[in-house]
Amino acid sequence: MSKSFPGVKALDKVQLEVKPGSVHALIGENGAGKSTLMKCLFGLYHPEEGTIELDGEKVEMADPNTALKLGISMIHQELNPIPYRSVVDNIWVGRFVKKGMVVDEEKMKAMTEELLKDLEFNIPADTLAKSLSVSQLQAIEIAKAVSYDAKVIIMDEPTSSLTVAETKHLFKIIGRLKSEGRSIIYISHKLEEIFEITDEITIMRDGQYVGKWAIRDITIDEVIHQMVGRNMEERFPPAEDTIQEEVLLKVEDFTSAQEHSFEHINFELHKGEILGIGGLVGAQRTELVEAIFGLRKIRSGTLVMNGKIIKNQTPKDAIKNKFALLTEERRATGIIPMLSVWDNALVVAYKKLADNVIGLIHRKKIGKSVDDICRELDVRMANTDTLIKNLSGGNQQKVLVGRWLLSDCDILILDEPTRGVDVGAKYEIYKIMRDLVKKGKAIIMVSSEMPELLGMSDKIMIMCEGKLSGILEQKEATQIEVMKYATMFSNKAKEEDSE
Ligand SMILES: Nc1ncnc2c1ncn2[C@@H]1O[C@H](COP(=O)(O)OP(=O)(O)OP(=O)(O)O)[C@@H](O)[C@H]1O
Ligand SMILES: [Mg+2]
Repeated sequence: MSKSFPGVKALDKVQLEVKPGSVHALIGENGAGKSTLMKCLFGLYHPEEGTIELDGEKVEMADPNTALKLGISMIHQELNPIPYRSVVDNIWVGRFVKKGMVVDEEKMKAMTEELLKDLEFNIPADTLAKSLSVSQLQAIEIAKAVSYDAKVIIMDEPTSSLTVAETKHLFKIIGRLKSEGRSIIYISHKLEEIFEITDEITIMRDGQYVGKWAIRDITIDEVIHQMVGRNMEERFPPAEDTIQEEVLLKVEDFTSAQEHSFEHINFELHKGEILGIGGLVGAQRTELVEAIFGLRKIRSGTLVMNGKIIKNQTPKDAIKNKFALLTEERRATGIIPMLSVWDNALVVAYKKLADNVIGLIHRKKIGKSVDDICRELDVRMANTDTLIKNLSGGNQQKVLVGRWLLSDCDILILDEPTRGVDVGAKYEIYKIMRDLVKKGKAIIMVSSEMPELLGMSDKIMIMCEGKLSGILEQKEATQIEVMKYATMFSNKAKEEDSE
């Protein structure tokens, strides 16, 4: 199969062969063409050349409806919920169940409840999509794909917004789908996952087919090698002694204005330090960092920066106080889809520059830094005038990271910074993080990826159900220790329940 976009050959004679009742991994760097191939298979894109065979018969994928009718469903990489409609509507949109001429709301609700119950997703069917968390939206998307009774289910980075427990839950569902004889095409940048649940693996590089292996015949290092086309010795740049005596930020008794959110959080952040924040879903980590950045209200709490009390009541205050926040969900709160990469990279720096030089901006001067940062992060695109929505998922994330790197901040808050980013580019982001702390900046990083949390943090603060449950030094931190603190209060609650 081949498919081009203006200036990019996204697919160049690619092949893929999937067995029934198996989980097939499709992997490659950001921009390798994985999502494009899947969109061709799902009838969203029309390739210039190539054929699709299903059960040995040649089929034409005119559009997604045809694909669904033929038994192919897809969980998209970028979620697209209809915000002001219920879970029910979001699942059955386009195929409402009717009684005579009218939509049978009751039946649809019952079907939804049964579907969610069957998959053990605890989400009320009449909730509006806009009030669901990212991981709940992902669960709805999974439920929807399953509801089509498909033979082939494409999962394009289904776990990118899921935490450890939710991922385990998804794997259980995948196991069941597989035992029912269905095939799953599984795209992920989390290589540990690939080795846990897939049977076969197809690797792509730069729009081309590299090869196919049974998962037992290949190692993680070899997968990385085939993917990036070179050897990668280390997955994390070595830590240097960058932590300074000086405390840059003190967070004291931070408590959310909302019920059931974070409470009494205290920690210190030194210059040159990377503080990781670990925890499970519902730990309120995102809520905490958003409150620090002025996006959420607090009931009590003080921020002390360089020994002085500061107030971040709005993000504008926070930016002025030299904070930066890379949000967790790039589609909802990150990218501006209709603008170019250049503009997206500069929105924050722009404001600053405009404040200083009364709206006069040297396109050439700052343009160079955009080019530099995009090169450093290896953003794959035709040029910086490309609309950001046309970049692959991981490359969009890289531009957002670049945006904050250009903003000249002292405290960089990163919420799941490498979500959807391939191993090679992850390494580049980590290197830049290390460079920043070397320059005396400090980083707060919320991460659900255990290797990243352990590999990059100088100190790990762990939260459980809104409370701080422990702070571990890098040396003493292990996966088991982190998990112990991450479930500390919930275990206690369970014990009390059973008594
Ligand atoms: N609609 C589009 N218009 C223009 N270019 C596009 C479009 N969709 C994809 N591309 C380009 O095609 C190439 C392949 O992108 P694709 O989204 O398939 O990558 P991917 O392997 O899924 O990457 P990621 O891991 O980051 O999700 C990229 O260079 C991307 O910029
Ligand atoms: Mg993709």
